[in-house]
Amino acid sequence: MLKMDSLLARLERAGQSHLLRFFDELDESGKKALLAQIEAIDFDLLPELIERHVRSNAQATVPDDLEPAPYYARDGQGARPWDVRKYRSIGVDLLEQGRVACFTVAGGQGSRLGYDGPKGCFPTGCVTGKSLFQIFAEKIRGAERTFGADVPWYIMTSPLNHDETRRFFARWDYFGLDPANVMFFMQGTMPSLDKNTGQILLADKGTIATNPDGHGGSLKALHVSGALEDMKQRGVDTISYFQVDNPNVNITDPVFIGLHAAAPDSSAEMSSKMVPKTGPEEKVGVFCRSGGKLRVIEYSDLPCELASARNEDGSLRFLAGSIAIHLISVAFVEKINSDAACALPYHRAIKKVPCIDLETGRRVEPTEPNAIKLERFVFDAIPFAEQSIVLETDRIEEFAPVKNATGVDSIETSHRLQTEKAARWLESVGVKVPRRDDGTPDCVLELSGITAIEPAGLDRASLPDKIEPGAVVAI
Ligand code: UD1
Repeated sequence: MLKMDSLLARLERAGQSHLLRFFDELDESGKKALLAQIEAIDFDLLPELIERHVRSNAQATVPDDLEPAPYYARDGQGARPWDVRKYRSIGVDLLEQGRVACFTVAGGQGSRLGYDGPKGCFPTGCVTGKSLFQIFAEKIRGAERTFGADVPWYIMTSPLNHDETRRFFARWDYFGLDPANVMFFMQGTMPSLDKNTGQILLADKGTIATNPDGHGGSLKALHVSGALEDMKQRGVDTISYFQVDNPNVNITDPVFIGLHAAAPDSSAEMSSKMVPKTGPEEKVGVFCRSGGKLRVIEYSDLPCELASARNEDGSLRFLAGSIAIHLISVAFVEKINSDAACALPYHRAIKKVPCIDLETGRRVEPTEPNAIKLERFVFDAIPFAEQSIVLETDRIEEFAPVKNATGVDSIETSHRLQTEKAARWLESVGVKVPRRDDGTPDCVLELSGITAIEPAGLDRASLPDKIEPGAVVAI
């Protein structure tokens, strides 16, 4: 009873006592479940978050001293030349020693694609329709063969898709990977808040409405799930982080790994890849510098005049677009988890969240956005690194995201980019690929990671001499 009284007092202090409004109507297990959910909420933090993100709706401010971030040009040339071969060999060594693990943030659903299921299960291969998970699994198999070492794979799910994701892997026999090297864990959640009052919404009388806490939650989830400990036991010290939506990502890039580990201006804590933005409006975060630190400013936060500012030669001043590919050291994730000064900020998003009307007790399906979701972004960890570097990569080689049902970053654009990448690789070893007048391949091509993880890995003898115009070929 005492416990109940103190809980009520705590809820009242936080302005959240409505969470127990229907408590007496619940059966014993319902009561227990609700209390457990309430106990999991951080009531020390909540009032400040409500003040900042609901009451005052503080807009993200951009620092005055913001300047474009320096980056390593992919060909080793540019403002600061570097030895691509040297860093590649350092990266190869680390991969051969089994010190690199893959990490996919896969908490999202395919809803923006009109797909009802975990995004990683979305059929994406441009010829075979392989799922995103299968595409990554085959790259891991190719990497394990190439480097002669295990590449453990950690997959972060969310409560929305954890069970379904695991069932998918089991149904597909882990796509040929050793199940002992594939680990799943769920990300955390945050309570969804009423956008006018800041009150936590109830999904039903005994359940708090929650949302996944953003991919920034992955750094905490790696720790609390035991994944970090598992990595250490395996001798892994470097995490190759990528989003579930990008089938073209090079998940074990020796050059990037070597540069992250050994570049003179890298503290080997968190590094990133960039592609030059296609134009001011492209919806990607941008690498910037301020206060001597590297940081990503999300596209929605970058003021228009900065997004469209140009250099004398006409190029975009803030050119370096983030494609959400990072290398993160195990030690850095530990630092983020143990040092209170490294807490990642929350960002707000306004969404429609079905909830219980507190007056009538009936469930409401909102027609207008009614809720604030609070999320953390992984790139907000970058400024906590002592020194962080950015490596330029080629858009076609590494960025073919599937985000939208149609238009930009859709399955259609991703298929085109997958084909173009495969065409380039085949041409690099002398296979003739038909091209239209505008230069685009006159065929559909898909290359599995099992076949090769880089052009040099292609076995010329097992490839055709040419691809016929209009052919649809998976290799
Ligand atoms: C994201 C980046 C943007 C970057 C772009 C590159 C953010 C806020 N923006 O935009 O800077 O240029 O990708 O493609 O991230 N996820 C979780 N749990 C969550 C939320 C997301 O696992 O709670 C995963 C999703 O499954 C997905 C990824 O994070 O793999 C990206 O999330 P999404 O919200 O789709 O970000 P974008 O708007 O595409």
